[in-house]
Amino acid sequence: MKAGKTKTDFYDYDAYVDKFQRTNLPRTTDETYTPEDVYNCVVDYVDTIYPLEGHVVVRPFYPGGDYQAYNYPPNGVVIDNPPFSILTQIVRYYIGRGIPFFLFANRLTCASLVRLGATVFYVENGLRYSNGAEIGAAFVSNLTPQWAVVCASSLRLALAEQPSQQPDSKSLKIYDYPHNLLKFSDFSALSFLEEDTYIPFSSVVSTRARCEGRSVGFGCSFLLSDEMAKLARAKLARAKLARAKLARAKLAHKIELTEEQQQQLRALNQTAKQ
Ligand SMILES: C[S@@+](CC[C@H](N)C(=O)[O-])C[C@H]1O[C@@H](n2cnc3c(N)ncnc32)[C@H](O)[C@@H]1O
Repeated sequence: MKAGKTKTDFYDYDAYVDKFQRTNLPRTTDETYTPEDVYNCVVDYVDTIYPLEGHVVVRPFYPGGDYQAYNYPPNGVVIDNPPFSILTQIVRYYIGRGIPFFLFANRLTCASLVRLGATVFYVENGLRYSNGAEIGAAFVSNLTPQWAVVCASSLRLALAEQPSQQPDSKSLKIYDYPHNLLKFSDFSALSFLEEDTYIPFSSVVSTRARCEGRSVGFGCSFLLSDEMAKLARAKLARAKLARAKLARAKLAHKIELTEEQQQQLRALNQTAKQ
């Protein structure tokens, strides 16, 4: 959160937190609590697209809450993580009453809210909530009526930097291999090229990758001479591209535009010309 902005800026924030602490309501998929750093980061982002000076940020979604009975202050802006199972109903309610909102959403299911006149904000983050659930994040809002879809790079970056969103270093080990050391799996990937690749004994030794004094990685690696490493790495970039293309070509099912979509496209193109 920006310097100068404190929790007390948030309407009835302490009562809100207290409600969380006193409740024993069951933890359903709608009960994913937002880490404070993530929430503050979202408030800061909203401030950049819709200056919050003079507004009161409200959070009507809490255990046992009733967002329809909530007492919205006239200068209130809802920034909150609602129960996703009733998100469409909530968006319809807020748009119908002109209540400004910026809500967390589920990336998989929120695209259709554009049809209600809401803006969908996409970020490529799987947000980790306080109960450990990880959900593909997106946001939905009526604060920027000129936009249907916003691909929010600055928000993605800010969210990714929050302490609560850092990868668990124990479960996720990524090794950064030096230029001359290639995994055996890199060599099998080279078989996706059209041409065969031959590596003479004079240019390679089989060995193990080591990190912090221990052998790591799955199976053996190969240490290559400078010249052979340069060649193999250049080929590897091409081979990985060829492999991805092949996988896509094998799996792809052609999607065709329906009559209705073709009509919509003609209308969009017509509007764009005007
Ligand atoms: C996804 S959780 C998020 C909680 C909190 N707003 C946060 O950001 O951590 C959604 C909360 O909304 C509550 N809720 C469910 N139906 C509601 C309703 N009709 N009105 C207000 N809150 C509701 C749930 O019990 C749950 O605590």
